[in-house]
Formats: sequence, structure tokens, C-alpha cells
Amino acid sequence: MTARVLTGITTTGTPHLGNYVGAIRPAIAASREAGVESYFFLADYHALIKCDDPDRIERSRLEIAATWLAAGLDTERVTFYRQSDVPEITELNWLLTCVTAKGQMNRAHAYKAAVDANGVNAEDPDAGITMGLYCYPILMAADILLFNAHRVPVGRDQVQHIEMARDVAQRFNHTFGKGRELFVLPQAEIEESVATLPGLDGRKMSKSYDNTVPLFDGGPKALKDAIARIVTDSCLPGEPKDPESAHLVTIHDAFADAATRAAFHADLRAGLGWGEAKQRVVKLIEDHVGPMRERYAQLVAHPEQIEAVLQAGAAKARAVATPFLTELRQAVGLRAMVAVPQAKVAKVQAVKADVPVFKQYRESDGQFYFKLTAADGTLLLQSQAFAEGREAGAWVKRFKAEGAVVLGEAPVNLAEGVARDMAEAALTALQAHEAEQEASKAAKG
Ligand code: TRP
Repeated sequence: MTARVLTGITTTGTPHLGNYVGAIRPAIAASREAGVESYFFLADYHALIKCDDPDRIERSRLEIAATWLAAGLDTERVTFYRQSDVPEITELNWLLTCVTAKGQMNRAHAYKAAVDANGVNAEDPDAGITMGLYCYPILMAADILLFNAHRVPVGRDQVQHIEMARDVAQRFNHTFGKGRELFVLPQAEIEESVATLPGLDGRKMSKSYDNTVPLFDGGPKALKDAIARIVTDSCLPGEPKDPESAHLVTIHDAFADAATRAAFHADLRAGLGWGEAKQRVVKLIEDHVGPMRERYAQLVAHPEQIEAVLQAGAAKARAVATPFLTELRQAVGLRAMVAVPQAKVAKVQAVKADVPVFKQYRESDGQFYFKLTAADGTLLLQSQAFAEGREAGAWVKRFKAEGAVVLGEAPVNLAEGVARDMAEAALTALQAHEAEQEASKAAKG
């Protein structure tokens, strides 16, 4: 069975070297594995929660899309789309909102952290907190559940959200599934083997620490300048250095093959100066990143190409999402109102034994008759007299087989106050009932 792997990239900021090593590169590598179907998307609705500057939103979407494409994402293989191009996500968001407990959202880390920060600043607990932030995990659940993802690679801080998505999925399945698993229960996947890249100062590389090395921004010069600022110890050239304790080495190793790593480590132990070591790191990273930067620049110069790729991705995503959402709407009772066809009405009446009946009888004058009465006993048709019982029987038989068309020829009169179409409807219903009886007899026999 193919495993569906899905992850979202919140489109805020510009990717740096840490994002590349920690998220982009491993995700692209994983998408090339056999037996994996990957969905990667730009979580631009999530970005709106954090940012209300339209120009920054626009810019970041472009840069992040271009980065993933330049880094080698194969959009033939992977479904790569923008969250905001798939309206089924926001529709599902509402269906899920209606089965999500408010108390559960109260416990979401991001919301709780914001409340705590307000407490520290002696503010109203909910100051500055939007419903977007509060309901963030539900939108994320919709992202995941719409595509029935099995595995969701995320950072540690997102694990609670995946657990919430499982919970919501379970509740929805239980409430609306009628014993069927409408949603797959997703599993968080934390890639332990992928090292988090240290930044200039040795702490995790992060925009919030202002210690990042740009991935493409500013070209080779910006890369070189940033690496020059990486903090090292004060050992001089010629003095032996400990590669294990230098984060410059960690950054180097993230881009080096085994032989290059070993050589670098050995040279540092043998006294390679930090200045020269940094030049090697610049060269190593530039060799890796340079060709991608060129592709990136081309893409950013042609946003319409990125747009086309994303539109194609959205079409691919919606080919899955649209039919599934139709099914989910059905499940919750948002269904089309359809006219019940007439034949079906007659059939339903017949099945309910709501059928008119023919009666044959002999009167005191010695003649034979038949009559048709509605299920409620109302007399509808009355025959003329027949000398022979067989004659009456033959007409009844024809009425049952052929229905209302026989009315024109049969020696019968409409009962008083009965309209012709009422008698016709009764005969049609009776005919349908007879046909049904025949069919079920044939099926049993
Ligand atoms: N919230 C995630 C983050 O900030 C991004 C995201 C949005 C996501 N929707 C998702 C990740 C669905 C995985 C699955 O990292």
C-alpha cells in the first residue's frame, strides 16, 4: 500500500540555510522514496494568522514556492499546491469545527502561550488573540484529513496539533461514519536523524534568534559574510582544534560527504586556521547552493511560471478533494433534494399494501359483477352484469396486467363522484403492485 505523506509550510519569512537542511532537503528526499505519495502545500491561510501585511504574504508565498522548486521538488511526482487554492479545505474546516470541543482548543499550546504572555504583561487574557489563532489546529486538521494522510512530518512543536487532528477525525468517524472510517487517523513523524542546524552563535538557526545564514538571499557575498560571522574559539592557525565542539563543523558536515568530513576534521586537528576553514565551508556550501540559487532567481523573475505549477498542483489536489468532500457532505446530511420519480411513488404505495382491490361477486339476480375499491374502501369502478363468471374474471385479469388502458374498452362505469384520473391512478398502482408480485415470485421460484 502506498503511504500518503503530507506536510504544510507556513508562508512567512524567507527560507534560510536551517530551513533547507532541517525541512526542505529531507522532505524532497523522502518524496523520492518508492511507495510514498507526497502532498506538500503552502499553508498560506495559516500565514494570515501570523501576518496582516499583504505585501509580505505575497512575497513570502513566492519565495517559498520558488525555493522548493529550485531545491529540486519534482511536481510530477508530488502534489504541490497552495492551501488557499483548495476551497474544500475551508469547507471541511467548518465541518470539523462543528465536532471540535472548545475545551480542547483551550489546551492548544500556541493559544495557551499567548494567554500566558498576556498574563505576564497584566493584559486581558485574550488580548490580541484572534479566532484564527484559537482555531488554528482545526484548520490544520482539515489540511491533513482532507487527503487522508497517513504520515505527517513536522517539528516537535506541531505534534500536539496532529494529536488533535486524530481526535477530531475519530469523533467525526464515530458521529457520521455509520461504522465506516471516513477519515484515516494521521501519525506525526518527527525526523530524529535530521540534525537541526546551528546558527551563527551556536544556538538553533532561527529567525527569532537573528542568527541565520541566508539560503539564496544576497547571493554568494551574503553567504560568505554570514559564514565569516560564525563564532569560533580563539585558537590560532597551527594550533590543534576540536572539530566535535565547533558548530562551524556541524554546518560544514551538513553539506559534506563522508570523505570530505573526515578530511576537514583531520585538518582542523592538525591546526587548520579558522579563516581558511571558513573559506572551505563557503566553497562547499556555494557549490551545493549556487546552481539552486540560479534556478531560484529565474523562477522569481517569472512568477507566472510558479503560478502555473501551483495551479496544476491545485487541480491535482482537488481531483482528490472534491469527490471526498461530496461524500462528507452527504455523511453530515447536506444532501441534494431530489424529486422522487412517479414510478417510484406508485411502487412505494404498492409495497405499503396501499393498493386498490378488485372484487368479483354474484348478485341475487343471478348475474356476475366486479368492482374496484380503493384501499380505504371508496368505490371507484362498477362493472355491468355478466351472464358468466368467467367473463368478469377475464376483465379483472386484463386490468391487473394492463392497467388503466383497459378502461376505454371495459364495460365499467366510474362510481359516483370519482374522477377518471383517480380511477386511472388506482389502476396504475394496482398494475405496478401486480408486476412487483410477479417479479418477486419469479425471483423466489
Ligand atoms: N502549522 C505548521 C507549521 O507551522 C504548518 C502546517 C499547516 C502544517 N498545516 C499543516 C504541517 C498540516 C503539517 C500538516 O509548521
